[in-house]
Parts: sequence; C-alpha cells; structure tokens
Amino acid sequence: MSLQELKQAFKETLASEYESIELNSLMSILFEHITGWDKIKQVLNKDLPLSKEIIDHFNEAQLSLKQGKPIQYIIGKAWFMGNEYKVNESVLIPRPETEELVDWIIEYATIIDKPLQILDVGTGSGCIPIAIKLALPNCMIAGLDISETALQTAKQNATNLNAEISWMQEDILNTTYLPNQFDIIVSNPPYIPFKESVNMQVQVKYFEPSIALFVKDADPLIFYRTIARLGKQYLKPNGQLFFEMHYDQGKALLTLFEEMGYHAELRQDMFGKDRMLRASIKR
Ligand SMILES: C[S@@+](CC[C@H](N)C(=O)[O-])C[C@H]1O[C@@H](n2cnc3c(N)ncnc32)[C@H](O)[C@@H]1O
Repeated sequence: MSLQELKQAFKETLASEYESIELNSLMSILFEHITGWDKIKQVLNKDLPLSKEIIDHFNEAQLSLKQGKPIQYIIGKAWFMGNEYKVNESVLIPRPETEELVDWIIEYATIIDKPLQILDVGTGSGCIPIAIKLALPNCMIAGLDISETALQTAKQNATNLNAEISWMQEDILNTTYLPNQFDIIVSNPPYIPFKESVNMQVQVKYFEPSIALFVKDADPLIFYRTIARLGKQYLKPNGQLFFEMHYDQGKALLTLFEEMGYHAELRQDMFGKDRMLRASIKR
C-alpha cells in the first residue's frame, strides 16, 4: 500500500468524525510523526510502497482518532508559544488563550523591569512557568499542581527546554502555607462547571483529565476565591494575580475580587471574549 492509498482509506474511515480540511492536517501530522517525513517528502514519496510496520502504526493512530483521542495525545506533543511540550493524558493540552495570558504577564513584567518571583498554580504540562522563564530568564519561577503525574511531565518539559523552575505538589484548596512571597501568582485553574460537560466535545470530555477541567456546579469560583485569599498573605506589596477564566464568569469574578479587597480588570482573548483577569490588593 502506498501513502496515497493509505491517506485515501484514512479519509474514508474518519469522514463522519472530522471535516475534510482537518483530516488533511491530521494525516500529515501523524504521518510525519510515524515516518519522520515532512510534507514535501510525503508528496515526493506518495507512490512508494509502505512497510507493514508503518501501516500498522498508522492504523492504530487512526483508530484512536476515531474514538476521539486528541492528536496531541496520540503523538505525545503539543506546541505552546513556539516550543514543543510533551503531553499525555495526565495534563491538559496547552491552549492558545493561555498563550495570551502568558503574553499579558510578560508585558507586565517588562514594564516593571526587575527580576520577579512568580508562582503558577495548577501547572499541568508546565507550559505557563516554562514559557515565562524562557521569556524572562531573571525571574524566579515555581509551578504547583496537585497531580504527581502532571508534575512529572512538567519537570520533563522544563528539562527539555532548559528552564529552571521549582516544583511543588500541593492541593491548593487545602494549602495554608506557601514557601515564599510572590510578585505574581498566576493560574489557569479548573473552571468548567460539571453541568457543562454534556455540551463538550468528546475529545475534551473523555480524554483530558477531569481534575484539570471541572469544578463543582455549586461553587465554580472556588479556585479564584482560594487563590485570592492566599494572595492576601503571599503577595508582595504591589503583587498581582493573573488568571485565565471561563468567558461568562467575568462579572461574577469582578464582584468576587472587589468584595475580597482587590482592584480587578478583565482582558479579552483574540475572539473578543472575557478570558483573563488581573487583580491587585487595594491599598
Ligand atoms: C486547566 S488545567 C491548567 C494546566 C496548565 N496550567 C495549562 O494552562 O495548560 C488546571 C490544573 O490544575 C490542577 N489542579 C486541579 N485541582 C488542583 C488543586 N486542588 N490543587 C492544585 N492543582 C490542582 C490540575 O491537575 C491541572 O493541571
């Protein structure tokens, strides 16, 4: 079987699950991952007979895609701010909106123009602290997560990308002590109420870690309130909290931070939706 024939069979098998344009991109990502052939080599070698090993590997990945497994988990990697991160089912796949949050922090730190101490709460793959460290090498950065397996992945990413980060395994909802005072505490915490899971894509709902996504319907802002409380104790003077948030929680979050004694502002993502929040303690 040639690559051309394999791709045709792939398209037919997955036609009911994916748009045709998406299928072309998935095929070429998968094929490059399996064979190491870039797009040009794939075109040049489209009629070459493939080995049984390659065909089996490709078919296995095709089955996983049919079941809804995200391509990033199949190939074990994702891209964040131009760098490659190892990912697996213990970590959230880094999202473009989180890149916008990191951009905001880098913008803020550049204006402050001094080495800052920064903590990322709910670090997952480590994409936030690693990307900040790569952009601001003089900052001291720590990443915290409840999940041991997520932290293992984060550590591996930090090593691969040569970023020096301190890691902590903690349940932030039951933490009363942090080892430092911070200039910035950042978090992209779980914020999706469980009741919304019915409308979510299979790829997210069944494959990404639910501990990374969901919060109890009865208290969807619990992580924000907890981190705001810790911020009162562990933010340095003029310290800042930065958060990613659910697009329709803006109003509720502004009220929450106001009531807890913070000035807060929202920022919109590239689609114009409220997606980020910055807060500092009122003096
Ligand atoms: C939405 S994910 C964010 C991952 C990563 N920061 C990113 O932006 O891609 C939330 C993270 O919070 C972690 N988490 C969930 N509950 C936690 C808790 N109680 N304490 C600390 N971390 C928690 C999850 O393991 C997950 O890695």
